[in-house]
Amino acid sequence: VVPTVTLKSGEKIPVIGLGTWLSKPGEVAQALKIALKNGYRHIDCAHAYMNQDEIGQVLEEVIAQGTVKREELFITSKIWNTFHSYEKTKEAVDIILQQLKLKYVDLLLIHWPMGFQEGGEIFPRTADGNHMHYSDADYLDTWKALEEAVQAGKVKTIGLSNFNSQQIQRVIDHSHIQPAMLQIESHPYFQQTKLINFCKEKGIEVTAYSPLGNMATPFRKEGQANLLEDPVILEIAKHHNKSPAQVIIHWSIQRGVIVIPKSTSEHRLKENFDVFDFELSKDEMAKMAGIDRNWRILDLTARDGDHPHFPFNIEF
Ligand code: A2P
Repeated sequence: VVPTVTLKSGEKIPVIGLGTWLSKPGEVAQALKIALKNGYRHIDCAHAYMNQDEIGQVLEEVIAQGTVKREELFITSKIWNTFHSYEKTKEAVDIILQQLKLKYVDLLLIHWPMGFQEGGEIFPRTADGNHMHYSDADYLDTWKALEEAVQAGKVKTIGLSNFNSQQIQRVIDHSHIQPAMLQIESHPYFQQTKLINFCKEKGIEVTAYSPLGNMATPFRKEGQANLLEDPVILEIAKHHNKSPAQVIIHWSIQRGVIVIPKSTSEHRLKENFDVFDFELSKDEMAKMAGIDRNWRILDLTARDGDHPHFPFNIEF
C-alpha cells in the first residue's frame, strides 16, 4: 500500500501517481491497465493531453468489473487555458467528467495561469504562428467556477498548476475555498525549494511533474544533461542497489513532494513504484540538494513570456 498525504480538503492523495502527458492514445490504456495491476491508484490527467477518452474507457471498465473501486482511485485533471472564463470553465468541468467517464474527479487544477483564446483549438496560434492567441480571462474567474464545481459535487479538491507565489497568493486572497495543491516542474536539477517552502507554509501540498527530467519532451533544450546519468545520483543508486529513477522518486517523496513519473513500459512502471524499501541518509539528501542547477525544462518564455499572466518572470 502506497503512503498518502492528507490535503486541506480532507482527501488523501497517494504519494506516487501515474503521469500521462505524452502518453499516446493507443498506448495510454495499456499503461494504465498495467499501472492499476501493479498498485497505482493515483492518475494524473489533463484535458490538454488529448488522451482522456481512452483513460476514461479503462476507468469505466475496471470500476464496472470491480477490480478497483472508485473510492480507491485518486483522479486528477486540469482545466485548459482555452476555458478560463467562468462560463467556459463550467463547460470544461463537464467535458472532463464526460471524457473520464466519472461522476467526480478527486482533484481539478487550473493547468496554467495564462488564458488562451476560447472556443476553438487547444493551441490557438497568432497569425505569425509564433505565439499563442491570448484571452484576457482572469484565473480568478476560473477559480470561482471551480469552487462551484466543488459545491456541485463534481470535484473533491481544487488546486493550481504552474502558478508563481504571487499568483497563488492572489488566489488565496480572493477565494472561498483555498487551493490545496500546486503542481509544478520539480526534479533534482530544478528543485524549486523556495516555491515549495512557500506552499508548505500555506498548507498547500506540492506535486512534481517531469520528476525524472522528462527526456522525451519537445521543450527540452539541446545540451541539457540527462538527470538519470548524474554521477551523484548514480553513486547513491549503487549504494542502495536501486536505479537512478528509483533514487529520484524516493528523494522527492522523502522531501515531502508527491511525484507523477510517466511511463508506458511495464518494466519501468514497476520500477518507479518499487521505491519504499530504502531511505536516503541526511548526507545523501544534502548531496542531492547540491546538484540543483535551476534548469527549467518546460520553459515557455519564448512562446508565452509576454502574456500578462505568464508565471515564470519572477524568481519563484
Ligand atoms: P517510457 O514511457 O518509455 O518509460 P518524466 O516522468 O520526468 O516526464 O519522464 C518520463 C520519461 O522518462 C519518459 O520518456 C519515460 O519513458 C522515461 N522513464 C520513465 N521511467 C523511467 C525509468 N524508471 N528509467 C528510465 N526512464 C524512464
